[in-house]
Order: sequence, then C-alpha cells, then structure tokens
Amino acid sequence: MKVTAVLLIIGSCLVLVLEGLGFPEQEKDPKFWNAWAQRTLKDALGLQRLNQNQAKNLILFLGDGMGVPTVTAARILKGQLNGQSGEETQLEMDKFPFVSLAKTYNTNAQVADSAGTATAYLCGVKANEGTVGVSAAAVRSQCNTTKGNEVTSILKWAKDAGKSVGIVTTTRVNHATPSAAYAHSVDRDWYSDNEMPAEALQDGCKDIARQLFENIPNIDVIMGGGRKYMFPKNTSDVEYPGVAKHSGTRKDGRNLVQEWTDKVKNKKGHYVWNKKQLLSLNPNNVDYLLGLFEPADLPYDLERDTETDPSLTEMVEVAIKILKKNSRGFYLLVEGGRIDHGHHEGKAKQALHEAVEMDRAIGRAGLMTSTHDTLTVVTADHSHVFNFGGYTPRGNTIFGLAPMMSDVDQKPFTSILYGNGPGYKLVNGARENVSTVNYQENNYQAQAAVPLSMETHGGEDVAVFAKGPLAHLLHGVHEQNYIPHVMAYAGCFGQNTDHCLTLNGAVSHSGTSAVVTVLSSIAALFTVNRLLC
Ligand SMILES: *[C@@H]1O[C@H](CO)[C@@H](O)[C@H](O)[C@H]1NC(C)=O
Ligand SMILES: *[C@@H]1O[C@H](CO)[C@@H](O)[C@H](O)[C@H]1NC(C)=O
Ligand SMILES: *[C@@H]1O[C@H](CO)[C@@H](O)[C@H](O)[C@H]1NC(C)=O
Ligand SMILES: [Zn+2]
Repeated sequence: MKVTAVLLIIGSCLVLVLEGLGFPEQEKDPKFWNAWAQRTLKDALGLQRLNQNQAKNLILFLGDGMGVPTVTAARILKGQLNGQSGEETQLEMDKFPFVSLAKTYNTNAQVADSAGTATAYLCGVKANEGTVGVSAAAVRSQCNTTKGNEVTSILKWAKDAGKSVGIVTTTRVNHATPSAAYAHSVDRDWYSDNEMPAEALQDGCKDIARQLFENIPNIDVIMGGGRKYMFPKNTSDVEYPGVAKHSGTRKDGRNLVQEWTDKVKNKKGHYVWNKKQLLSLNPNNVDYLLGLFEPADLPYDLERDTETDPSLTEMVEVAIKILKKNSRGFYLLVEGGRIDHGHHEGKAKQALHEAVEMDRAIGRAGLMTSTHDTLTVVTADHSHVFNFGGYTPRGNTIFGLAPMMSDVDQKPFTSILYGNGPGYKLVNGARENVSTVNYQENNYQAQAAVPLSMETHGGEDVAVFAKGPLAHLLHGVHEQNYIPHVMAYAGCFGQNTDHCLTLNGAVSHSGTSAVVTVLSSIAALFTVNRLLC
C-alpha cells in the first residue's frame, strides 16, 4: 500500500497525517489525547454560563435526509478532501456546543417523510406524511379536509413580529421542506395547479407555488429552483437567447414572477434566475429578492455548472446580507435539499458532497453572524437506510472497500451500503464483484440488501445541533415539533413571550394582581442580573 506523509497545521498543533495507512504519530502519546480532552473540558465548563440573550436572528439549517451516519461520513469526506485522514476532522456543525436528538415519526407514520416532518419543525405540530402546514386532522390528498386545519409556521410568526424572513433551498422552492414555511396543502405534490386533481381545484384548494406569494405577503428572500411552476403553460420560463427554454406548467395562465415583480417594483425588489445576476446585486440596494435558478431542483453540487448556478453557500451569503439590514432581525430557513435525493438514488457520493456543501454554508453563516444575538440550529427531517462499516482502517477513503473479503461469498464489499435501494444488483445470480466496477465514481450506486427503485428514509432519531441564545434548551431527546417552540421563545415572538416583556422593559401584563406584579418585578431584576453578569 502506498503511504504518503503530509504535514498539516491544525490550530496550533503540527499534525503528521499518514494517508491511506496508519495514523498521526502524535496519537501514540497519551499527552496528545489528554491535552485535547482538557481543552474540550475547559470549553464545556465555559458553557455553565448560559447564553440567555434574546435571539434577534434565527437560522435553521435543514439537511434533508441528513441522518447521523450521513453526518459522520460527510465529516470524514470533508477531512479527506482537505488531505487529512478524515475521522478527526470537525464539521462546522460539530463545533456547535449543544446537541440533542429529535424523534421524527409522523402522526401516521413510523418512518417519516419530508412534508409531515417539515410541518413539525416549522409549524410546531406533528402532522400526517405528505401534508404541509396542516394539522393531523387533515387527510392527505383530500382537499376538503384543509379548511380549519391550517397551522402557521415560525417563518410567519417571525414576519408578524417585524423580522425579515428568508427561504433558501437547493430544491424547488415549492418542495416539501420550504413549503411548510408558507403553505397549507394536504398534498406536498401540488406544486402548481397542473399537478392538482380537478376536484381539489373545484373545492377551492390552492397550489403551493401560488401560496408562496399569497399567504405571507413579501417573504423578503426566496432562493432555489422551481421556476416552471411560476409560469403559464406553453410559455417559456426564461426569455434569453442561448438559454434552454423550459415551458411553464400553470393552467390558470398566471405569471407569478411577473406579479411578484410588479408588486415589489418600487420597493427595491429584484428577480434573478442565474448566478451572475445574483452575484452582481448590491445587497444594500435589495430589500426583496426572488431567485429561481432552475426549472425544478438545482443540480447536485458535484454536477453544478459553476458559471450559471450559485452554490448553497453563495445563496446563503447573499440572503444574510439582505436580511440582516432589518434592525429587528431575521428568520432564515436554509435547506440542503438534495442530500435526500442522492440517497434515494443510492448515490452516496452525491449525497455526501451535498452535506459537505451545506456544512460550508453553515460556516459562512457563522462568520456573518454572532452567537451573541443569533440562534443557529442544524438538523435533519429524517434519516436514510444509509450506513458505512466493515472495520475499515483509519483514513480509509470513505468511498472505499472494507479491508477483507466476505467470508460467505469471498467477494470484496464497499464500506458504504444501503439497507434497500437501486444498488441491489445480481450478476449471474450472485452479488456483484465490486472490484470489477468503479465504486468511486460520482454516480456509483452502493449495494443494497433489498431491490427498490428508490431507496427509503430511515426511522431513527436525527441530531439537532444548536448555538447562540438559549441553545441549551435543545438538549436530551425530544419530539421534532419542539424545535420551533424553542426558537420562537429564544427570539421572543410566537405563542410564548411573557418572559420577554420584562426583558424588554415593557409594561407589565394587564390583569395581574399586585403580588404577581411584585413577584415578576423580582423575577425581572433577577433576569437582568443574569444578563449583566
Ligand atoms: C371529501 O372529499 C373526499 C374525496 O377527496 C370524499 O370522498 C369525501 O366524501 C368528502 N367529504 C366531505 C365531507 O365532503
Ligand atoms: C398548450 O399547447 C398545446 C399544444 O399546442 C395545446 O393543446 C394546449 O391547449 C395549450 N395549452 C394552453 C393552456 O394554452
Ligand atoms: C473480483 O474481481 C477482481 C478484479 O477483477 C478479481 O481479481 C477477483 O478474483 C474477483 N473475485 C471473485 C470472487 O470473483
Ligand atoms: Zn426523501
């Protein structure tokens, strides 16, 4: 085996990395591990002084399908892309001080989908699979169960509280995750009226694209894909020489982009559909931004045309520059939406590169904000039946082979495997010999135990990483719908703000007895004290 020695400076430590075999020499010395653990302990002790500030800004990074095995594998990939062995690398999300687990099941499903879970972590209530922005009293695809069962999202609560709000995703902006932030739809697939049954339209249900512009007036920043759902059928979604045209889907003849543009014309509103236009904007002169970069989803980051489509990190950077101009702060939902798609296709390399890109966006957002006034939460909606194992040695390429043959069929196997999916493949009635194929290529589909055209979600808990004001409330094991309750509480908006009136020095509540007033004044003093120390 080829052994390459690489010298790296990590922090103040000089690290010798042996690629492909073995591990850094310093790891043989107990002093190395003891010193590292002591530094970590010192940082942990610092957390005893809780950050009780009010969260002016709130950011939720949602890795669609980013289960814990995906986080670990993405960490190793990130390290290996930087020439390290990978396991010791820290993702940006790894640096967050508080981590908890969220239970992801939907009200009617043990293994969840992205729509019911989005309703949980955005609207604060668990719901049925396939539905967005409606309670579990609504039945999937039955339009007549919508009315009266709508639930609103933290994005709306934030907007109502005077904050700027934004949505950035690598999927269609009317896909399951973002749509729960603004829509009430008993079917996540009702992207435009073209995808809806005639009966649902007759019963008065509205497509999700339309709701993006009608439900919450002026979402300040909207970026992602899904252009075709905004334009009328038989008209092009882009009028530009040399650019491939894609026909719109709308049957109602509406041009939602034009309507939006007209509405924000005199309010520093800008519509962009490619990266060049996006990056040439001066955020100081933009108050409203609509960026629709593809007819449907954005391409995988590994396949992205870096001339025409922005990266998730580039979109997040522009979004924060625009949103942070509001002195009352902002709420931003960022979705790494195609981690999920990579896994569904059994293409682990695509999925993991998507996760690494989202981590890069988390790092960029961290540089542009402060934990003093910004609560940042990173989580997933659900996991996948993705895993890696096989007693691989330290520094083994994450897309590599386990070090031994199967003792049953005497063939090699990749460390990454799926429980089910399109990678199930027999050659002459037996498991494929992976040494005969290129298992490192971008679109290699890892072997699966059960054949399925689409690999499925996984049912285990997902991690919730948090930093900033009141991040410590995201601790232990909780239901997924707890997340927006914590975020709104930390930001002093939404249904539970009593603790904030005193913080803000506002008048005491009406109808409280003198004793309660005195008690709450003492409580207020105590709170202020804690804030000062
Ligand atoms: C609601 O619509 C479904 C079909 O989607 C129908 O079977 C049902 O009878 C309707 N219920 C009511 C109360 O109208
Ligand atoms: C779109 O074009 C097709 C084929 O030319 C036509 O049948 C259809 O009626 C058109 N639809 C609309 C909404 O104009
Ligand atoms: C698997 O393929 C490799 C490379 O072609 C070959 O050397 C090996 O003998 C094969 N193993 C089996 C069990 O067929
Ligand atoms: Zn999925």
